[in-house]
Amino acid sequence: MSRLLVTGGAGFIGSNFVHHVVGHTDHHVTVLDALTYAGNRRSLEGLPEDRVTFVEGDITDATLVDQLFADADAVVHYAAESHNDNSLNDPRPFLDTNIIGTYTLLEAARRHDRRFHHISTDEVYGDLELDDPERFTESTPYNPSSPYSSTKAGSDLLVRAWVRSFGVQATISNCSNNYGPYQHVEKFIPRQITNVLRGIRPKLYGAGENVRDWIHADDHSSAVLTILDKGAIGETYLIGADGERNNKDVVELILTMMGQPADAYDHVTDRAGHDLRYAIDSTKLRTELGWRPQFSDFEAGLSATIDWYRDNESWWAPSKDAVEAFYAGKGQ
Ligand code: NAD
Ligand code: DAU
Repeated sequence: MSRLLVTGGAGFIGSNFVHHVVGHTDHHVTVLDALTYAGNRRSLEGLPEDRVTFVEGDITDATLVDQLFADADAVVHYAAESHNDNSLNDPRPFLDTNIIGTYTLLEAARRHDRRFHHISTDEVYGDLELDDPERFTESTPYNPSSPYSSTKAGSDLLVRAWVRSFGVQATISNCSNNYGPYQHVEKFIPRQITNVLRGIRPKLYGAGENVRDWIHADDHSSAVLTILDKGAIGETYLIGADGERNNKDVVELILTMMGQPADAYDHVTDRAGHDLRYAIDSTKLRTELGWRPQFSDFEAGLSATIDWYRDNESWWAPSKDAVEAFYAGKGQ
């Protein structure tokens, strides 16, 4: 049994990972999470107390981070400011958490010689044309567009430098867009589902031609465990499940699945600098480490996600009004 330290474990993907680890391994998990607006203690409810310890704290707190690294065998780093729209409004927290926070963790990994896995995003590669035959691979040059993705790119480069200069035992994964339970209502899919549940019309940025490559959060978790187990130190692995869809199709699918007319949505102000298309080629992860996604049917995964939001209104309702007020102020 290993002791895992999981940063950002009260957020969307981090909490899905903690549930996955408890269900599929005998590791003990310590979650370090600052409980920002995006963190929710309730996302870890129901997990056994002897398997999961929760510590409220900031990844930029070097003293606290040092203590927690001393008691861990491996660290999985999810904590981040993660929303592009927020980064356009106020970039500063993105620099603090994504850059300084990652630096603080890397210094602790160096001091304690701990295995470190850094969670990153496909957005570091910029975007693709709709008809580009090539997808992102591990050798695609970095070309981030937003304050969010540029700070994630910066954090990836710090990890690479700490591996080469200090011998830190780190790996990196860059994943595509996740969906599933426990995702904050500021994000595309939960926003539209909870809009329909509230009787609000879904909001599509621009023409809705932008393509995202959807993967269920549980498949992201199994990929991260695979990399922790079998990944080569210093390597980067792209995680994706061949789930490309444009936003218009996804909104229309949500409306249809929820018993509404497919055209019952509004086109709203587009996102500044909006990336057109992300698409992942995950051949390296599949051929070298033998990983496969389990959620191959996007409609089935989306339907289960709709059911989760319908059944868990008390989880998302406290955030909904503030999120909609924020978007309304931007014409979105
Ligand atoms: P999220 O915003 O839902 O959760 C982030 C968590 O980090 C929250 O619990 C928050 O409280 C915590 N946190 C933020 N700042 C912190 C700090 N300074 N100290 C400690 N904790 C802090 O994010 P998410 O969507 O779950 O993303 C998790 C990670 O996965 C991020 O690194 C993100 O870049 C990456 N990622 C996300 C996606 C996606 O589709 N959401 C895809 C690929 C990669
Ligand atoms: O690709 C991985 C990235 O996916 C992660 O790194 C980010 O942390 C995560 O937030 C996500 O980024 P996106 O910007 O792609 O996700 P978001 O849910 O904000 O938007 C998805 C798409 O939907 C995007 O093209 C913008 C559009 N959109 C979004 C919202 C909130 C809408 O059309 N309407 C909306 O209301």
